[in-house]
Amino acid sequence: MDPSAARVKKLYGETLPPAYDDRPSFPWRVLRAAKMFVGNRLYDLELQSVRAIEAASLAPGDRVLVFCCGTGREFAAIRERIGAEGSVLGVDFSPAMLARAQHTMQSEGWTNVTLLEADVTEFQPPEGTSFDVGLCTCGMSIIPDWTAAFDALLGAVRPGGTVVVGDLQLAAGVRSLLNPLVAWWTRPYGGSRKGHANMRTLFERMERELDVIATGEDGHGTYRFHVARKPQSA
Ligand SMILES: C[S@@+](CC[C@H](N)C(=O)[O-])C[C@H]1O[C@@H](n2cnc3c(N)ncnc32)[C@H](O)[C@@H]1O
Repeated sequence: MDPSAARVKKLYGETLPPAYDDRPSFPWRVLRAAKMFVGNRLYDLELQSVRAIEAASLAPGDRVLVFCCGTGREFAAIRERIGAEGSVLGVDFSPAMLARAQHTMQSEGWTNVTLLEADVTEFQPPEGTSFDVGLCTCGMSIIPDWTAAFDALLGAVRPGGTVVVGDLQLAAGVRSLLNPLVAWWTRPYGGSRKGHANMRTLFERMERELDVIATGEDGHGTYRFHVARKPQSA
């Protein structure tokens, strides 16, 4: 495994990054509170995810693939729209994050969500399966080989299906003054300036190759989501 990918995997190992860590020691609790304060001034990532899911116009019965699903933060909003007849496959390489998603699934009694522990850069859909929607939020920017991950996501979605990517990116112009702060703030989660630069390239690729039907921005341009249709001919 690429050393940077191994670093990210370690970050989501037995002890989780600050926002997911239930029992940090005292100095970490103070630092976490400070970082959360800064982060909450800049973003409402949960709201952005819901906006992107809304814009994806999920329909009852849809099959949805969620890359880097983590604790399953988006599952409830997706399930609300696809109903009991739809299904969700969540993929993540962190057993600790998936354990939390599993816990939520069990306590909520969700039976149409399946979890897969795997590296998304190597993901291949089960034989004969394709998905109506493929989604990845706050995942691509921390994957060194993001092109492999995006190709896998796009490849798993049926022609005419929908691809949703939301992530931190480098802001342009005067707002680029925020970029070092965002790189610092996201470092414990695997974030980096390089990863945020990669996302600008990814969003440009979506604009070139797909039909972008909705877009949203937050954090003064340091976060973006694109909702796009895969061409019928693909
Ligand atoms: C910042 S969390 C975001 C989780 C979720 N998407 C959300 O928005 O709440 C990033 C997640 O990506 C996962 N991840 C990073 N690289 C991955 C890879 N190559 N394959 C699978 N999962 C990966 C991590 O384990 C972690 O759960």
